[in-house]
Amino acid sequence: MSVSDPDRLREIVAEICDHMAGQTDRGAVADYIPELARVDPGRFALTLVTHEGEVIAGGDADTPFSIQSVSKVFALAVALGRIGDALWSRVGREPSGDPFNSIVQLEHERGIPRNPFINAGAIAVTDAILARSEPREALGQILQFVRYLAGDDDIAIDPAVAKSETATGWRNAALANFMRGFGTIERHPDKTLGTYFHQCAIAMTTTQLAHAGRFLAFDGALSPGGSRAIAPRMARQINALMLTCGHYDGSGEFAFRVGLPGKSGVGGGILAVAPGRASIGAWSPGLNAVGNSHLASMALEMLADRTGWSVF
Ligand code: DON
Repeated sequence: MSVSDPDRLREIVAEICDHMAGQTDRGAVADYIPELARVDPGRFALTLVTHEGEVIAGGDADTPFSIQSVSKVFALAVALGRIGDALWSRVGREPSGDPFNSIVQLEHERGIPRNPFINAGAIAVTDAILARSEPREALGQILQFVRYLAGDDDIAIDPAVAKSETATGWRNAALANFMRGFGTIERHPDKTLGTYFHQCAIAMTTTQLAHAGRFLAFDGALSPGGSRAIAPRMARQINALMLTCGHYDGSGEFAFRVGLPGKSGVGGGILAVAPGRASIGAWSPGLNAVGNSHLASMALEMLADRTGWSVF
């Protein structure tokens, strides 16, 4: 049975927020990007945007956070919209089973990253967008697309986070240079990385994120039967990749426990999709051992359990 009654959903969101407020084990805030280490681990937020257009929010749902790898979903949609299936000559569609910043598979696999959500894959996707635009223009396109999806022009890039990662992103620099050597990326790695770091530094609230994910919940449209952002087939493909690869080497565990397509970021955000039912934004900055938000994952597990929204 699947819950759709908004009053019951409000009760469930309130119960989850209460539960999270009492948690003492909150995971560890990412510190390899120094600016992210400053975020208060006590934060938690959850927002649902339902099929009926109800917005149900709890906790710190008006506090913007760094979306980081959640941006990879939006960049993928932009790249697919611009170059279509040609993208798949540069990036695969299989889970990696390795950490998000791993380089090991690239050497044996001709410099082609396993999927668009590990860092190497996302850098390759951003480079594909740059094939037809300069960095400033490409970033503008990604940001405009996110604002359009969310229906909110206030969404912006946090320059301090972008600067912080630009100064410390050595592993991503290694991935980009390695892929440039194979020809997977075509631009100078500095240009591609600069664009990628800024895209990751987009700041959003869970309410903005839940609105921005509606196109994945409703077959490519901003509401059921409403204006179309991408083709239905593309929305299904992105959801499939989120389910299988959206949490890196924790993707199997997330599918097992939550059963929804989802994409996490090291800022502690998760965008999850209950197809046909709702788009969900969850956030808590503390991460588990594989770099996914500890409490946001737990919240989504509770939500799926109480609503019956698992896709299985
Ligand atoms: O490239 C990085 O390392 C970060 N900008 C994004 C990584 C990330 O969010 C991984 N997610 N859990």
